[in-house]
Amino acid sequence: MSRILLTGGAGYIGSHTGVELIQAGHEIVVFDNFCNSHPESLDRMEQITGTTIRRVRGDIRNQTQIETAIRAHDCQAVIHFACLKAVGESGERPLEYYDNNVAGTLSLLRAMRATGVRTLLFSSSATVYGVPQDLPLKETHPLSATNPYARSKLIIEDMLRDIYRAGPEWRIGILRYFNPAGAHASGLIGEDPPGIPNNLMPFMAQVAVGRRNTLRVWGNDYPTPDGTGIRDYLHVVDLAIGHLSALRHLDTPQCLTLNLGTGTGHSVLETLHAFEKISGTTIPHEFAPRRTGDVASCYADPSQALAVLGWKAERTLDHMCEDAWRWQEKNRNGYRS
Ligand code: NAD
Ligand code: UFG
Repeated sequence: MSRILLTGGAGYIGSHTGVELIQAGHEIVVFDNFCNSHPESLDRMEQITGTTIRRVRGDIRNQTQIETAIRAHDCQAVIHFACLKAVGESGERPLEYYDNNVAGTLSLLRAMRATGVRTLLFSSSATVYGVPQDLPLKETHPLSATNPYARSKLIIEDMLRDIYRAGPEWRIGILRYFNPAGAHASGLIGEDPPGIPNNLMPFMAQVAVGRRNTLRVWGNDYPTPDGTGIRDYLHVVDLAIGHLSALRHLDTPQCLTLNLGTGTGHSVLETLHAFEKISGTTIPHEFAPRRTGDVASCYADPSQALAVLGWKAERTLDHMCEDAWRWQEKNRNGYRS
């Protein structure tokens, strides 16, 4: 058992990971400024786990706040989810993205150095592979960034590699997530993006429940079997469990980089039809031009995670749709329902 600080722990992936950590016997402290989440998610996590969750309202850019939280709660490790993550918005507001994501991470790392905490899992993303040159994507694929959000992830990854080089006592796990989807089986926690969802699954779920009228399918002229984009959708609970495996593996100093994905790609239309089947709804959709910056196909080679951690995603696309639908039906307007 250890006590772990979760920056951004009230968000989509943080809340699901928090639940799995608690159920595996860890204690968590959620550090979040709620800029893109709702404290209600923490109440729901308490409902699922039957525990009281320690919570700190704070900003990762404030080093003192993080140091105080680590000391007050005697945390031994950090999982760093806190981040701004909207790709399009990052192009319009690059300063905010570099400030929140890069400067925020610097401040977190300084706080960790000051408090002697040397164990860190970082939420990276498949976006650091840029435009895929070879599929499936291996961890050795060249890295590049096509927008400020992606560049912020790449800069942080580079910072972490430098920190490990200079201080080999660090235990760092860089986890490159593919496309998290779905929700907790209880229907109590799930994805609740503010405003209009950028991502396919929450947009589709909101159309299915009648909150939005039509799904726009961005491009049906890609070189894929049905012309729509292919992604590696990964159940958020599988992803959460991946963090537990990675944390267990960080029992010795290292800087580990792993893909967390299923290795299987699904097109937009396949995903849409799966969601319709599971929800028993018809999802009105129309084809629209390609979205700037999108690639045709992106899916992981997850074999390293299996070899190193013994971790493998178990849940299928149907399972993701079933859980996303349960969450959406029970919480039509998310946590503000
Ligand atoms: P999310 O927006 O639901 O959660 C992020 C959380 O961080 C929110 O609760 C937000 O309030 C908090 N936060 C943001 N800036 C903060 C700050 N300065 N101080 C304190 N808290 C702050 O996002 P998510 O989907 O749960 O993503 C978690 C992590 O996973 C992010 O780092 C994201 O880049 C990464 N990731 C997500 C996806 C995805 O598709 N969801 C894919 C790849 C990587
Ligand atoms: N799509 C639509 N209509 C929509 C939303 C998405 O057709 O309304 C399509 C996209 O064009 C793409 C697929 O659905 O083909 C998936 O799009 P998402 O926006 O859900 O996911 P992306 O792969 O574009 O991006 C996500 C995260 C990024 C992250 C990346 C890799 O948003 O932050 O996965 O991890 F970098």
